[in-house]
Amino acid sequence: MTTKKTKAVCAPLIEAEHLRRALRERNLLRDDVEIAKEGTYICFPVKDASEDLCLYKVVTKSFKLKAAKPHCYKDRLKLPKKLMEELPTSYDVVGAIILIKLPKTLFHYRKEIGKALLETHKNIRTVCLIDPVSGELRTRNVAIIAGENQTLTTHTEYGLLFDVDVRTTYFSPRLTSERKRVADLVKPGETVVDMFAGVAPFSIMIARYAKPRIVYAIDKNKEAVILAQQNAKQNHVLETVEVIHADANDVEKVVPKKADRIIMNLPFSAYRFFSLALSIAAKTCIVHYYDILKEEDIDARIDALKKIAEEQYFNLKDISIRKIKSYAPREFYIGIDITATKHADVA
Ligand SMILES: C[S@@+](CC[C@H](N)C(=O)[O-])C[C@H]1O[C@@H](n2cnc3c(N)ncnc32)[C@H](O)[C@@H]1O
Repeated sequence: MTTKKTKAVCAPLIEAEHLRRALRERNLLRDDVEIAKEGTYICFPVKDASEDLCLYKVVTKSFKLKAAKPHCYKDRLKLPKKLMEELPTSYDVVGAIILIKLPKTLFHYRKEIGKALLETHKNIRTVCLIDPVSGELRTRNVAIIAGENQTLTTHTEYGLLFDVDVRTTYFSPRLTSERKRVADLVKPGETVVDMFAGVAPFSIMIARYAKPRIVYAIDKNKEAVILAQQNAKQNHVLETVEVIHADANDVEKVVPKKADRIIMNLPFSAYRFFSLALSIAAKTCIVHYYDILKEEDIDARIDALKKIAEEQYFNLKDISIRKIKSYAPREFYIGIDITATKHADVA
């Protein structure tokens, strides 16, 4: 362990926070070494033990050096000034893989950028240049620009482990809090249907953090289904999560029970499945519906869903809309919670 000898001001535990603030305000606190506990005292390494702090115990001792913070990857790059300004400030991290989008102007420098990202993130083993998700299975073109030739990784969220292949399956780390929010709404004994489950992050979060009777996790992508099954196993929810390799168009055939809750995370296309979703809905059913829409198109989409529901003898109420993340300028990834209730006079 590397240490550094320095002066320090020490206060009993109860006064430590007060002293820390005083030192911080006077810019006296050293930030290259760790604060240390000594018996019932906390010792703050200081640049200078100024006089008005002499009420406290002043000592000289060795402190553990702080681990050097990784620099921003941009600090490791030397590109023309205009291109430096175009470097992305955000990117996704899925397990040990960074997924980054680059403008065409930076394509020529992709390898240097990948190397800089790898050097500044100690837990990352691979950096991938990505295109937006596309096609029915919502997968993306992925080019490895640095690190290991590997697109399979294990992502951790809320203590759960999700195996994801970023090339062959969909996964977004930006939906973490949305998954937990939905799991927290699930009541004991519910039958849940995750119509477009992917590697099953919603299903598994629900199975682990709520007490559903069963969660049916459906997906059409064979690769996703294999990983979903693996994920259910490694998170010990095989008894609650039933992974089904099927087209959601066949949901009536593959789901044997009426659903109390349905998750429809298939932006751009979920509305085409809304009628089918209602065909497996219990008399009262909560639908978590996801879409990508411009602000001005949201009302029209809600009206369209209401019309579909009416044809299936359902009313939609308690509709709440949340913008989860931005997708493109003025376009949002939107989550809509809907309570669907069957008309009283229909069996
Ligand atoms: C946006 S991803 C969502 C995955 C998952 N719910 C999540 O949050 O990570 C949509 C998923 O729907 C699946 N999918 C697309 N069309 C489908 C269909 N007709 N039937 C079943 N699954 C489908 C895709 O394979 C993909 O895994």
